[in-house]
Amino acid sequence: MSNTVLIGAQWGDEGKGKVIDVLTKDVDIVVRFQGGNNAGHTVKIGDEQYVLHLIPSGILHEDQICLIGNGVVVNPLALIDEIQEIEERGKSVKGRLFISDRAHMVFPYHGAIDAAREARCSEDDRIGTTKRGIGPCYGDKVSRVGLRIGDLLDPEFSSLLESRLEEANRVLTALGGEAIDGEKLQKQYLEAAKIIAPYVTDGIAMIGDALQGGKSILFEGAQGTMLDIDYGTYPFVTSSNTTAGGACTGTGMAPQRIDRVIGVVKAYTTRVGEGPFPTELFDDDGKEMGKVGHEFGATTGRPRRCGWFDAVVARYSAMINGVDYWAMTKLDVLDGFETLKICVAYECDGKRYETVPANTRVLQNCKPIYEEMPGWQVSTEDVRRLEDLPANARAYVDRLCELTGVKLGLLSVGPARASTLNVAL
Ligand code: GDP
Ligand code: IMO
Ligand code: MG
Repeated sequence: MSNTVLIGAQWGDEGKGKVIDVLTKDVDIVVRFQGGNNAGHTVKIGDEQYVLHLIPSGILHEDQICLIGNGVVVNPLALIDEIQEIEERGKSVKGRLFISDRAHMVFPYHGAIDAAREARCSEDDRIGTTKRGIGPCYGDKVSRVGLRIGDLLDPEFSSLLESRLEEANRVLTALGGEAIDGEKLQKQYLEAAKIIAPYVTDGIAMIGDALQGGKSILFEGAQGTMLDIDYGTYPFVTSSNTTAGGACTGTGMAPQRIDRVIGVVKAYTTRVGEGPFPTELFDDDGKEMGKVGHEFGATTGRPRRCGWFDAVVARYSAMINGVDYWAMTKLDVLDGFETLKICVAYECDGKRYETVPANTRVLQNCKPIYEEMPGWQVSTEDVRRLEDLPANARAYVDRLCELTGVKLGLLSVGPARASTLNVAL
């Protein structure tokens, strides 16, 4: 029995979905603890590809229980679509999927406010959100005016929503958006309540009972450390704690019950949306990474910005999350490169930075200090043992671990389950 927290160590899309899928066979429960359907976690099983947004990636196995924890913001309409899609594709969800009654609910006005705020921003200020209403929903939660999944099943729901919508529409119209029709909204959510009711549970009790009963839990982070509301490149971040601490606040699990933390890192770096990205490439190398790595957002389809591995970011992430092991992904994408660069520190106005500066404007102006390593120009996709990696690939992976002070737990060399070297997990 052991409880594992898995988080993204960069700007999201590190391949968390794939790694969760690989690790699920060894656990009893998989739990999402933050974020919402801004996430897009891809799992490839044979020729089938699934993209999960709200449902934990463990659902594609047969026996594991999946919980959407209290720290997640849930759009019930999106959740129903996702349940239906998975069931239509022959995977059973009933009796295996649970939603915490304390999870906050996303409404269409959250998405509309999100979009209206973005539309009013200048090029420089725009966050490039997924427009899923994540920020406004967490905003309501913190302002103590949010509605939770449990409220959806409460006889008072209609009047609670009515008073909430009145204020939300004022905000929305003041931002230049169009007011949401209350009657239609009530109908949609009351219909959704009937479908969702069987899945709603007391998530805190469920986690408590599972721990008491010696079950193994895998906590599935969404987004990545650099998008964390506290530790990320504020304000170009998402609105939740994407880091390991979020697994406790977002589920009700006590910190000392965490046995290990796995950080998922790409062997290079990507970012989708706006904000500083010191190792971003605008040349052919960047285009090649995007092309070979199919770097398009799993939720919005936007092209992801690509760049070299940033050891400053990975070190910072290892420290904040207490990463015990890296799950390093997409090494195969680098197969064709002649020379690889690794950012070991930044330079800004004559000053050397070994860690991520808090000031986003400083980070924006930071220039990466690189060291170079030779590439390997051989396909790694069929490699299954570390010993069989080309020597230069092995040296590259070892160097990333050395620079970040974290052991390698798993190496991924392709999107499929089989393209995985489980080194120590
Ligand atoms: P997540 O949000 O962290 O779950 O990551 P995404 O699913 O958004 O993006 C990761 C993408 O890389 C998906 O298309 C995966 O199928 C793919 N992927 C994951 N691991 C590997 C790998 O080792 N090599 C390659 N080539 N693709 C991978
Ligand atoms: P997964 O879990 C990558 C980014 C958005 C934007 C910022 C804020 O698949 O790794 P939001 O809609 O959350 O208010 O947008 O965060 N973002 C992600 N980037 N992967 C994700 O999730 C993301 N979820 C949000 O692009 O820059
Ligand atoms: Mg993703």
